[in-house]
Amino acid sequence: MVSVAKDHLTEQLINQSGRFILVIAGEAHRQLAMQVGSTKGESVNKFEKFSIAAKTAGPDGALIPQGAAAWMACEVESSQDIKGYRIFIGRVVDQHDTGRPPLVWQKDKYFGLKPV
Ligand SMILES: Cc1cc2nc3c(=O)[nH]c(=O)nc-3n(C[C@H](O)[C@H](O)[C@H](O)COP(=O)(O)O)c2cc1C
Repeated sequence: MVSVAKDHLTEQLINQSGRFILVIAGEAHRQLAMQVGSTKGESVNKFEKFSIAAKTAGPDGALIPQGAAAWMACEVESSQDIKGYRIFIGRVVDQHDTGRPPLVWQKDKYFGLKPV
């Protein structure tokens, strides 16, 4: 399930295509996560702007940034509007776990993941 701000490019593209790729960022993506998360995709290609090294994967040949922890290709099963956001519930149709630890976001900070 993903929660996407309404009227952003991401929401429009998922509405049009009925699918999305969920990429779980890796620990090396701390800076990149802030960069792409603070930039609107309407007028700029984020892969070019931030020189994101990527390879294609999944049923539609989506671009997966190098260093990602995992990705999941999803087909939208249903969606619902909630206070300025659209909640998309997707069925995972393809996925890959790279084995790299994920980047974790908690209390306004990024963390790595370590055994306790
Ligand atoms: C740590 C972090 C978490 C975010 N989480 C969400 C989220 O859950 N839903 C959302 O719509 N935007 C979220 N954002 C903001 C979007 O990443 C931002 O609006 C997006 O880059 C817009 O891209 P677009 O204009 O290409 O659709 C988050 C940003 C950051 C930095």
